[in-house]
Amino acid sequence: MLTVRDLKVHFPITKGVFFDRVVGAVRAVDGVDLTIPDGATLGLVGESGCGKSTVGKAILRLVPLTSGTVRFDDVELSALHGEALRTARRKVQMIFQDPYASLDPRQNVESILAEPIRTHALRKGAAIDTRVVELLDSVGLPRTAAGRYPHEFSGGQRQRIGIARALAAEPSLIIADEPVSALDVSIQAQVVNLLADLQEQLDLTYLFISHDLAIVRHIADDVAVMYLGGIVETTSAELLYTRPLHPYTLALLSAVPIPDPIVEDTRRRTVLEGDLPSPANPPSGCRFHTRCVYVRDRCVTERPELREVEPGHMAACHFAEEIAVSISPRPAVDQRP
Ligand SMILES: Nc1ncnc2c1ncn2[C@@H]1O[C@H](COP(=O)(O)OP(=O)(O)OP(=O)(O)O)[C@@H](O)[C@H]1O
Ligand SMILES: [Mg+2]
Repeated sequence: MLTVRDLKVHFPITKGVFFDRVVGAVRAVDGVDLTIPDGATLGLVGESGCGKSTVGKAILRLVPLTSGTVRFDDVELSALHGEALRTARRKVQMIFQDPYASLDPRQNVESILAEPIRTHALRKGAAIDTRVVELLDSVGLPRTAAGRYPHEFSGGQRQRIGIARALAAEPSLIIADEPVSALDVSIQAQVVNLLADLQEQLDLTYLFISHDLAIVRHIADDVAVMYLGGIVETTSAELLYTRPLHPYTLALLSAVPIPDPIVEDTRRRTVLEGDLPSPANPPSGCRFHTRCVYVRDRCVTERPELREVEPGHMAACHFAEEIAVSISPRPAVDQRP
């Protein structure tokens, strides 16, 4: 199980000619809680710049944590350093949007895949070659791929190499950061299905980061919606798509038609307007208040906590209950006798 508690990642903004002095901070991640049970997939969604990748990097400690804790399988990753951190990191691997940028163009596929096996001393001698073949098979690449270089492959195949490299370290948790966003739509489903198959075979836990709500719906068990460094809503994928309770989620989903005339009427008003405010200077109170169609005075001054509004359904909105009532399907006919 992965548990992230009150995670904050603030990047300092510095200014100065001879001496840098800190004049502010980009609050890329500002108090995030996440829980992913073993073998489950959590989808992390939100607009560009809301802090999704920074959450992924912070779990792996690829960026310094300002505060908060990250625990995976009883190991507090956020407390480790040096060799202990390197050892623990093997269990958590990342898959990136652009495998081309993360694969060394001068290494052939065999050495790309053999490297993590050697680094972590998972196999020796001829067993390494056997393992490379096994990895190629598991991601659906031909064995002849071993002698070829990244540029010789299509985008979808390159992402399969990226997945095989992540698997080479024998992880339990995979952080997939927009793993199919750079691929043709026709290829996206194949790669998502491959990830789903591998999860079942290898009992993997996924943090699946994407701005594409349709893809996340397909693969995720639970979904967390992020806005300007914070989680604004989290629940099962089923509930998130059928009964969104946060105005931001409603806006994100507003392109999806809802079979209810009352919701249909409000839907048009929930289209998201304006840009994401700067995380260096976030709005007061509820960070979404500058773009929210339901905004009231309280939202400007008081930051709403992420709280359980309905069973198993968390939202950070002062008026989530009212929104829940307004979106509840009403009986089509009067049922009084
Ligand atoms: N190393 C850094 N130094 C300073 N600011 C950073 C750094 N990395 C990210 N940021 C800022 O933090 C915020 C969140 O960035 P992040 O990459 O996590 O967003 P994202 O949700 O992954 O966006 P996208 O969908 O575009 O990938 C952005 O405002 C970004 O400019
Ligand atoms: Mg990103």
